Amino acid sequence: MQNRASRTAEQVALFRALETARGHDRVFDDPLAVRFLHGGYRLLARAARVRPVGLRLSRFIDRRWPGPRPSAVARTRLIDDLVIEALGRGARQVLLLGAGYDSRAYRLPGIARVAVYEADHPATQAVKRRLVRGAVRPERRRHVRYVPVDLLTEDLGDALFAAGFGALEPTVVVWEGVTNYLSEPAVDATLRRLASLTATGSSLIFTYVDRRVLDGEVDAGSWAEAVRRQGEPWTFGFDPAALPGYLAARGMRLALDLSTRDAAERYLQPLGRIEDAAPFYRVAEAEIQ
Ligand SMILES: C[S@@+](CC[C@H](N)C(=O)[O-])C[C@H]1O[C@@H](n2cnc3c(N)ncnc32)[C@H](O)[C@@H]1O
Repeated sequence: MQNRASRTAEQVALFRALETARGHDRVFDDPLAVRFLHGGYRLLARAARVRPVGLRLSRFIDRRWPGPRPSAVARTRLIDDLVIEALGRGARQVLLLGAGYDSRAYRLPGIARVAVYEADHPATQAVKRRLVRGAVRPERRRHVRYVPVDLLTEDLGDALFAAGFGALEPTVVVWEGVTNYLSEPAVDATLRRLASLTATGSSLIFTYVDRRVLDGEVDAGSWAEAVRRQGEPWTFGFDPAALPGYLAARGMRLALDLSTRDAAERYLQPLGRIEDAAPFYRVAEAEIQ
């Protein structure tokens, strides 16, 4: 990136649109996903509404790029559930950090009762805002505030406060598909900022790539190469074994750490769907202390 909208964000929206098009055995319904797509991607998502076409398309994507599609599907459903649980525990605001084309603000049950802050790089956010204006009625987006911020160069707290973010409110933060595009200092600064901005008991849900992929010890196959060619290479990962201590040093307790392969076993396999999500792409939840 940047200076243009994130291509990887649009790809995740394509995977969500394909999942939504499956019909009876889909694991979530994201009707806005198709509205975020351009050109060929939108045509593919429309064609996928004919179920045999959609299934063949998914199989083709999985053969050519093993991992990203089922990983995105499984992580989306897992994070949906975690956000709904956090809202049930009393979160009063939601922060979607690096929101991309995440549509949770407009589709999760009960979320419109709290304030939702969508923070993202200005280039991606400008496109998202335009598309949301065309797709979502004003009364269904009144609870959403947009926060343009470049996490590599700007202070998250300043940007959030300018948008009205409530300091020390019980919050659920979703940082999905983003840490792998940042630098170590930016991840560190963001975590420290989040710990100081939100109330004790708030939750941070985030994804990360296993560090061993970045170190070349684990092969991510054509996936890592594909994002690199799109100009959005993976630049950061965590060592899962060191994660509890890393978070503890920043005022957080690791409560959950699952691979997207584990999440696929939880959500896809019971429907008879054997799809190969990545063991090295992980979803974690931390409690802010
Ligand atoms: C793969 S997309 C994930 C989007 C969304 N969270 C999802 O899961 O659908 C990566 C997101 O990270 C954002 N991002 C990348 N670098 C960023 C930066 N330096 N500052 C803020 N956002 C950034 C992009 O704009 C994009 O929305």
